[in-house]
Amino acid sequence: MTALADTPLMAQMRQHRSIRQFRPDPLPEGVLESLVSAGQAASTSSFMQQYSVIAVQDAARKERLARLCGNQEQIRQCPVFLAFCADLHRLRLICEGEGTQIQTRYVEAFLTAVVDAVLVAQNVALAAESMGLGIVYIGALRNHPAEIVVELALPDLVFAVTGMCLGYPEEDPALKPRIPLPAVLFREQYSDDEVRTHLDAYDVQIKGLQMFRRAETGEVYGWMARAARRMAYTDPKQLRVAVGQVLRSQGFLLE
Ligand SMILES: Cc1cc2nc3c(=O)[nH]c(=O)nc-3n(C[C@H](O)[C@H](O)[C@H](O)COP(=O)(O)O)c2cc1C
Repeated sequence: MTALADTPLMAQMRQHRSIRQFRPDPLPEGVLESLVSAGQAASTSSFMQQYSVIAVQDAARKERLARLCGNQEQIRQCPVFLAFCADLHRLRLICEGEGTQIQTRYVEAFLTAVVDAVLVAQNVALAAESMGLGIVYIGALRNHPAEIVVELALPDLVFAVTGMCLGYPEEDPALKPRIPLPAVLFREQYSDDEVRTHLDAYDVQIKGLQMFRRAETGEVYGWMARAARRMAYTDPKQLRVAVGQVLRSQGFLLE
């Protein structure tokens, strides 16, 4: 296999692991602004900058958000919780001012804003980790999207895509190895001919790390067994079926 390049940034990226226990220490003055400013340097579709970031530090609001996000303790604990939003509201105001009509009917309008928001989020994550901070994304911010609209006072054409806890790590969790490169990097065209072989090898690796264990029997299982169960959830709550409704009520018609 080709040797992988390893710049200091790439080495840092390979050290990423989600942090779910935080020290209570606040972020020093200016750090939040520095992180979001670095986040903003991400590429942005057509230079439209269709995102906003809401930083929540108020303990009572974090408590309410924790309850809305599956009671995740790290939301209470972290000094700063960030909500990364797809945002076409600002552009609507601009269009109104310029006398044009913003077009938001199609899935593509939502998708470009989501991609923009997520690129900023991941830039913020890398910037935070470069300063010794830890992060964990909180997709559970979409568990109760209607309540999140109220809690964060989101106007029409704004949707909170993902949350992120930010703070100084109080734990040092193990890295989770990723799927082997040949199962995700294809040449010229999609080809899953050899994916199975690589996934089998990956499962052996994951089982060796004893990452997943059945509570009842103690049996160790692999990533594929976990993925197969996770991807077959049928509970409307776990499937977050409310997301589509709230998107439409926020003005993303998704046609
Ligand atoms: C969009 C997104 C949403 C996530 N939501 C949650 C969450 O609600 N709670 C949580 O504890 N981890 C959450 N995670 C973290 C993943 O579980 C984690 O990235 C994955 O298990 C890989 O582990 P690692 O980040 O330590 O490498 C989320 C990650 C992403 C990218």
